[in-house]
Amino acid sequence: MSSRTQQTNYSLQQLDALHHLHPFTNHRTMRAGGARVIVRGEGPYLWDADGNRILDGMAGLWTTSIGSGRKELAEAAYKQMLELPYYNTFFKTTHEPVVRLAHRLAEIAPPNLNQVFFGSSGSESNDTAIRLIRHYWALKGEPKRHIIISRTQAYHGSTIAAGSMGGMSHVHQHSYPVYPGFRHVMDPYWYGEAMDGETPEAFGLRAAKALEDEILAVGPENVAAFAGEPVQGAGGVKIAPSTYWPEVQKIIDKYGILFLADEVITGFGRLGKWFASDYYGIRPNLITFAKAVTSGYLPLSGLLVDDKIVDVLNGHNDDFNHGYTFSGHPVACAVALKNLEILENEHLIENVNTTTGPALAKMLGKFKDHPLVGEVRSVGLLGAIELVADKRTRKRFDQLGRVGTICRDHFVREGFIMRATFDTMVCAPALIWTQAQFDEAEAVIGKALDQTLNDVAGEIAA
Ligand SMILES: Cc1ncc(COP(=O)(O)O)c(C=O)c1O
Repeated sequence: MSSRTQQTNYSLQQLDALHHLHPFTNHRTMRAGGARVIVRGEGPYLWDADGNRILDGMAGLWTTSIGSGRKELAEAAYKQMLELPYYNTFFKTTHEPVVRLAHRLAEIAPPNLNQVFFGSSGSESNDTAIRLIRHYWALKGEPKRHIIISRTQAYHGSTIAAGSMGGMSHVHQHSYPVYPGFRHVMDPYWYGEAMDGETPEAFGLRAAKALEDEILAVGPENVAAFAGEPVQGAGGVKIAPSTYWPEVQKIIDKYGILFLADEVITGFGRLGKWFASDYYGIRPNLITFAKAVTSGYLPLSGLLVDDKIVDVLNGHNDDFNHGYTFSGHPVACAVALKNLEILENEHLIENVNTTTGPALAKMLGKFKDHPLVGEVRSVGLLGAIELVADKRTRKRFDQLGRVGTICRDHFVREGFIMRATFDTMVCAPALIWTQAQFDEAEAVIGKALDQTLNDVAGEIAA
């Protein structure tokens, strides 16, 4: 490392510590070590200011599906900035990029979802969903229907409403009292929640029944919607057993409530279909999306809305008093259109079914017998390795998250990023990974798991 690079790195770290508050961070711990400065990205790799090349197993934050450094996206942004850098979509105005993107999204979305309300983040679009769901029921003459049922460990964002809809207590912590009108039922986490001898199929039905029990407990006439991520991502890549989603859909249909699928992580091909709702055969009335719609090159999100909801809006002379300055930002829309074109033209979504998804499952599967590993799971390009102190009894380590952090730090030292959610190591590779990246990841994971085992050997059941 040249002394100039070292100096730049040092001063950026110092300035960061002086002026930058980071998301979801223990600032005291981070400042003790300094933030890592990322300087460049190309394809599935990142480089830090110390010159280290890092294989990004998280596609940023479940985001950079086509990888970094695609000139076509930069050119789309450049062209649009010169043409029309900004105009809002309030006051009966529109522009070409937003119209073309809304049309394209309607083409690839489930058939009943033909209208889009745009935002700039997943949290914003979940807030849009919450307000639209309540507005819909009010217009239908059922204003009592306001309760939205979600699940424990769900992550729907960080705004006060989306954070309250999510089921993470550490997110609720700072918005106490939690915004009213949300209930949380068990998540379909078979490995962690099943009773002795309970099969995944039986557990899936039990987890779905928790939704029905809650609907009955609060009174069906008060329930507006059920919200769920098709695969819980930030909660630890929890993949529902095969019986879960069909049963949930039946319960939703039985009580006539709305169904919000939060596809902020699963949208745009991560499960081998444009939307995971198609993968699971579920029929949401609303889908939130963000992240991979632009592969993260610019912030953009949205809410796809069922025709039956739009019909109710159209049938009333009431305003929907909601919107963002950047709803349908023209440059972000132009970039999204190019990104969707690349995903399609390069067959990246089909590859999740035929090559990249199976390669991830095979690679992770090699670690299932490792003494630290309780469960390995994956679907499409979402994967997890759950670390436990006792494989036989599924006993967790003391201080949940401690061992996951040790393991994550070993990954990083070896030039690989996998995120620790408590003691579960999760990954979401870019859709452009080839066998070379899976091989590289396999070598690093094996080494980092062994190093972690060495660190906690005294805590492992014999
Ligand atoms: C499923 C899900 N919904 C919503 C969000 C919030 O998105 P944002 O961080 O863009 O607000 C996230 C973020 O990771 C997410 O994973």
